[in-house]
Amino acid sequence: TILILDFGSQYSHLITRRCRELSVYCEMLPCTQKIKDLSWKPKGIILSGSPYSVYDPEAPHVDPDVFTLGVPVLGICYGLQEIARTHGGQVEAHSHREYGYAKIQVEKVGSHGDRLFDGIDMDTDGMQVWMSHGDQLTSLPPGFKVIAHTPTSPYTAIAHEIEHVFGVQFHPEVSHSPKGKEVIAAFVHNVCGIKGGWSMDSFIPKEIARIREICGEKGQVIGAVSGGVDSTVAAKLMHEAIGDRFHAIMVDNGVLRKDEAKKVHEMLTENLGVNLHVVDASELFLSRLRGVEDPEKKRKIIGNTFIEVFEDEALKLEAAAEKEVEEKGGEAKGKIEWLLQGTLYPDVIESISFKGPSATIKTHHNVGGLLEDMKLKLIEPLRELFKDEVRALGRLLNIPAHLVGRHPFPGPGLAIRILGEVTREQITILQHADDIYIEEIRAAGLYDQISQAFAALLPVKAVGVAGDARTYDQVIALRAVSTEDFMTADWFAFPPAVLKKISSRITNEVKGVNRVTYDITSKPPGTVEWL
Ligand code: XMP
Repeated sequence: TILILDFGSQYSHLITRRCRELSVYCEMLPCTQKIKDLSWKPKGIILSGSPYSVYDPEAPHVDPDVFTLGVPVLGICYGLQEIARTHGGQVEAHSHREYGYAKIQVEKVGSHGDRLFDGIDMDTDGMQVWMSHGDQLTSLPPGFKVIAHTPTSPYTAIAHEIEHVFGVQFHPEVSHSPKGKEVIAAFVHNVCGIKGGWSMDSFIPKEIARIREICGEKGQVIGAVSGGVDSTVAAKLMHEAIGDRFHAIMVDNGVLRKDEAKKVHEMLTENLGVNLHVVDASELFLSRLRGVEDPEKKRKIIGNTFIEVFEDEALKLEAAAEKEVEEKGGEAKGKIEWLLQGTLYPDVIESISFKGPSATIKTHHNVGGLLEDMKLKLIEPLRELFKDEVRALGRLLNIPAHLVGRHPFPGPGLAIRILGEVTREQITILQHADDIYIEEIRAAGLYDQISQAFAALLPVKAVGVAGDARTYDQVIALRAVSTEDFMTADWFAFPPAVLKKISSRITNEVKGVNRVTYDITSKPPGTVEWL
């Protein structure tokens, strides 16, 4: 395992990502982690970048034990500067911040220091890398040699002559450093001697064994499912581990897509064998949403009502289990002790990442305050995985491909896609239009090229004509975006014929709609959802 110490750089999680792509297992911990408190010994340590300058009074500092553990260390950007600071080098603020592409020239030193760039194919004028730093090294710490430089930065990469301690000023973890991954590979494979071999295949039996050990012989687990990839994969894994001792609960909040509750029920129960309870609470949700137009209010109402309904169902399940024992005798089922959450690695990183020396580390449950009186403990089998890894896991668990590749769907559902008041009539119109839209996207073979697509219903009426008659009906806005991480997004360029077919079907088939528009706003300045 590689230990990554996070000093708060926006790129820290990418280091994890690159190690995983090399099939090398790694764990990222905040830079405040003390080496003596670790229960395992890393085979190599990577120090991340940071928004701080090493001489800031507030700046976070590396635990000196990092350098006495006897394992290779690679410092990236701020990590390099921390190495310099702790080893007697000099770091100074540069007159201008170096931000953007640079070409580095590698220097051979005839020792182990050469291994960091060994075997990497360079362009004739060097290797392109991405820089983003204000400070830079102005004198080499004793015992170190320069292994790469640029015209403006003489100490772009350094290595200790004897110890396996390396530092690079550039960011090998970002995609703007095209050969950066090879530098990380050289560090983990050649310097640390880790071969790799971590794979999703090995993840399943290991995780199942871990779940069984945690839950013991009788422990019961509950978890909410939505039909989305994460909760479906988590539920299937739980089912593989403890069978019917896992109880999946799906809350129908009335603002799901067309036939969604029915489809999820079929899929989870019939295809995947998961023990599922569907609670139809649509009446309760819709009554509370009546008259509400403000999007944040809608979110709050749906979030709070969800917790209430889920909690109620969990208590009912527990009471039913107790009653069964009373009536039929036999062995008592275990208590519900655990709450399954489909938390992914980016959520974990978001909560553990280093926010500053005085910041405490956030806890990261998505469903705040859930089931406090039941004192449930969290179980998070996906907490080490990225989204695409969850998809790969889903495929290995035989979850149907169309489910594994599903676009995300927000918790507040259609309530944030109906602008204005949410009523049964508006929901029916939107469900129908959205269903046609997605059906046509799939028929055109475009679904997997789009990150997220949906229809929104606008609270305005427009004039149209049908046959010889005037119509005065509502407007549907179609949205489709491509994005890497949903922080920024581009609108998707449909072939015109596809839009034509979708528009014609929606205006012909959906009662109450006479006009279809396509949203050509990027994020920013738009957001993905309309509300
Ligand atoms: P925005 O609209 O913020 O959306 O650009 C980015 C991604 O987040 C989803 N989204 C939500 N998901 N609860 C959720 O579970 C919400 O309240 C919510 N709001 C937006 C959105 O669908 C997109 O994938």
